[in-house]
Formats: sequence, structure tokens, C-alpha cells
Amino acid sequence: MSLLTPLALLVTDLDNTLVGDDSSLEQLNQILDRYRRNLGTKIVYATGRSRTSYQELATTKQLLTPDALIAAVGTEIYLGSATPDPEWVNKLSVNWHREKIAAIASQFADLEPQPQSEQRPFKVSYYLSASVVSAVVPRLQELISDRGLDVEIIYSGNKDLDILPRGGDKGTAVQFLRDRWQIDPSQTVVCGDSGNDISLFKYGMERGIIVGNAQSELRLWDELHPADYHYLAIADCAEGILEGLKYFRFVE
Ligand code: GLC
Ligand code: MG
Repeated sequence: MSLLTPLALLVTDLDNTLVGDDSSLEQLNQILDRYRRNLGTKIVYATGRSRTSYQELATTKQLLTPDALIAAVGTEIYLGSATPDPEWVNKLSVNWHREKIAAIASQFADLEPQPQSEQRPFKVSYYLSASVVSAVVPRLQELISDRGLDVEIIYSGNKDLDILPRGGDKGTAVQFLRDRWQIDPSQTVVCGDSGNDISLFKYGMERGIIVGNAQSELRLWDELHPADYHYLAIADCAEGILEGLKYFRFVE
């Protein structure tokens, strides 16, 4: 029987990854809480939500207080304070011109702006119907590049389109935190279910868990980029995370 690997860092998306089934969430919380106390495991939430929207979720669901919150699809990192990490803000500020991007996007009738609460300093967000994505996104990308701007366009859950500074995604935010905390990718687990989680899986050799209820865009990406350090769970949400933690021998 092989020994357990110490879990140094667990990064998880919230909606439909950690959150979605209350009883398995409770079970996973107990394990993570114990690991944090005994091993010093760090817990990070990486969500598309704004910090305010995360706080709303935290009033309705049993969530452990994270060691860091990566919010707004990676563009904001909160390390126990109410203001985003200034070093991360500085990185994202280079060649980012929010108004220019919003003006270009406003030329597309199919892009419906999301509510003001989800428009963030480094994230411009819309709703877009899946039937027109392949027509709209390449043209949008081209117009933005023509202006000399470098952005990432991320489509999630067949409805949400986010425009972020290049390198402002969840995955790059995790690399930033790993560097700061000096944590090895082999002792890091990342978990997700949708398009805005793809970046969690694509930069390093973190152990990746894709929950059983994952959206088609993440499943497709996984099929095109097979890696033995990624695991597609059978179970949904927190139960899928637990299944993956056992598969990678972080949990008995
Ligand atoms: C969350 C955010 C939304 C974003 C979506 C996908 O739902 O609230 O603004 O578009 O995640 O990233
Ligand atoms: Mg999700």
C-alpha cells in the first residue's frame, strides 16, 4: 500500500464544483479542516464571482474561510484583506484599457452586458448565446488585437463571456500564489467544472480534478490535452473532489 501524499494546497472553483451538493460539501469540509490544522494545508477558492457575490454565497452555504480568495475569474486575489493584492493589480494593469474593450464589445449586438456588480476593474463580462459564439468570439478577438490590446476571452457554461487582461486568469493567479507560498505543483490540487477553470489545468503540473458534472467546454479541453496528472471524476461536485483526492492518494 502506498503512502499518502501531503496536500499542501487545494484550489477549488465554487459553483458546481465545491458547491452543489450540501452533504458531500460537509464531508469534504471536515477533511480539509483537519488537514489544514494538522498539515497546514492551504485552501483557496478560485471563482468567477466578485468578492461581494462570494460573500453572499458564503451566507447561504457552509464554506470554510479560505487562506486566499481568487475572485472575478482570477483578476482579483484577496489574502485576508478586503483590498485585492496590490502586486497582482500592478501586473494586470499593464496595457489594460477597460473602456476601449467595452467600446469594441458594444459593437456586437449579441453581447449583452452582465449586471454592474459583475463588471470589475480587470474583467468585462457579457452573456452570449452558445449558437453565435463561434461567429462572435474570433471577430471580437481580432478587433481587440487590432487596437494593440492583449486580452483573454473566456466562455463558460454556454452563457458567460469574460474579457480579462492576458495572464489575469485563475490559473496564472494560482501560479502567483504557489510562488509566493513556495508550494510544489505535485502537492497542489486544482478542481473545476467549466470554461473559466481551464486555465487551472493548463499551465503547470498541478494535480487536476474535473468533477463529474463538468461542462462540455472543459471536457472537450481535457480530451484534447490528455495528462496523467488530471482526473475526470465520476461523482459530481464535492463528492467528485473527494473521489479525485483519493485517486491521487491525498486522502485514504
Ligand atoms: C460568475 C461571474 C460571471 C462570470 C462567470 C463565468 O458567474 O459572476 O461574471 O461571467 O462566473 O466566468
Ligand atoms: Mg463553476
